[in-house]
Amino acid sequence: MRTEIIRIDPKNIDSNKLAVAAEVIRNNGTVVFPTETVYGLGGSAYSDVACRKIYAAKGRPADNPLIVHIADTQDIFRVVSEDQDIPMEKLSKLWPAPLSVMLRKNRLVSDVCTAGLGTVVVRCPDNPIATELIRLSGVPIAAPSANLAGMPSIVDATDAILDLDGKVDVIIEGESPRYGLESTIIDLTSQPYRLMRPGAFTLEDLQYAFGQIVLQNTMEEVKVPLTPGMKYRHYSPKKVLYRADPDDLVELSRTDEGNKYAFLCSEETGNRVEGYKITLGKRGDLYTIAYNLFRSFRALDRSTKSMGIIETFPENGIGLAVMNRINKASVRFR
Ligand code: TXA
Ligand code: MG
Repeated sequence: MRTEIIRIDPKNIDSNKLAVAAEVIRNNGTVVFPTETVYGLGGSAYSDVACRKIYAAKGRPADNPLIVHIADTQDIFRVVSEDQDIPMEKLSKLWPAPLSVMLRKNRLVSDVCTAGLGTVVVRCPDNPIATELIRLSGVPIAAPSANLAGMPSIVDATDAILDLDGKVDVIIEGESPRYGLESTIIDLTSQPYRLMRPGAFTLEDLQYAFGQIVLQNTMEEVKVPLTPGMKYRHYSPKKVLYRADPDDLVELSRTDEGNKYAFLCSEETGNRVEGYKITLGKRGDLYTIAYNLFRSFRALDRSTKSMGIIETFPENGIGLAVMNRINKASVRFR
């Protein structure tokens, strides 16, 4: 398939150019587009045909449902069941944001999109290109992260083109996502609400907005996965990645064995590491660490080193999501 690449200036959005992509969505085609978290691979959430194309392009198992994106909080009524209570006042205040919510779905949303589940995960992204694309399309857009299944999420248009050219109808090149890490997902069908996936919207902010949030088992391997996605290998570089505390990283770097590794580390740890480094940012600046995380996985794969070792971080703020992604992508060193 021929992929059309459309470059959009986020500061001066050309709606005529975006209309071309919107037309593709309306005709049940696929469009890769930027959001504030990571790039998404979108199609009409109302169309079985479009949703099947998304799974096919990603190589995603058919039992792992897609997040549905809307342009405005009010549009939640276009995807959610009529008998579902929705905390509209809170959502109107919080959205647009890197926060996705699970609710019972209505019949318009494709069963292919939700992998046959009775629920739908919805989010209102905080990115002007995404919002305008959804608005012009006139339908909610189903979009998983644009990476091929199992690979790190895509945070740069160049990687979107490398991985997806020829697999989708359109790739929109925009500004790199501000967070570089996927949205937080919460389950609003249970009381109290439950965290399903930590993400760019912090747990502290969630607790402030909603009160108690149940954390049960999200950080560990669970017997019954909270999201189908939890069953699958995730976010990983192709090469083997270990994780370790800063001091263990430094110690390893000073041994002969250390030559085999790329060291994915903070600036502070990097100053003590002897060897090949991929720098994530200042240790205290977890937003920058998050922003560089998936880039560092791709840099590892491009490097000449046969494996990598990444530093672990405190689990406060966005650090909870950073460590969730690191834990999924790596094995503990010794
Ligand atoms: O930031 C994000 O959320 C990005 C951007 C593109 O919006 N999207 C994203 O989608 O990360 P994806 O497909 O990579 O991750 C969605 C996760 C998967 O683990 C999936 O299993 C889960 O959400 N999920 C989606 N719908 C669900 C549902 N109805 N019930 C349970 N889990 C669901
Ligand atoms: Mg993903």
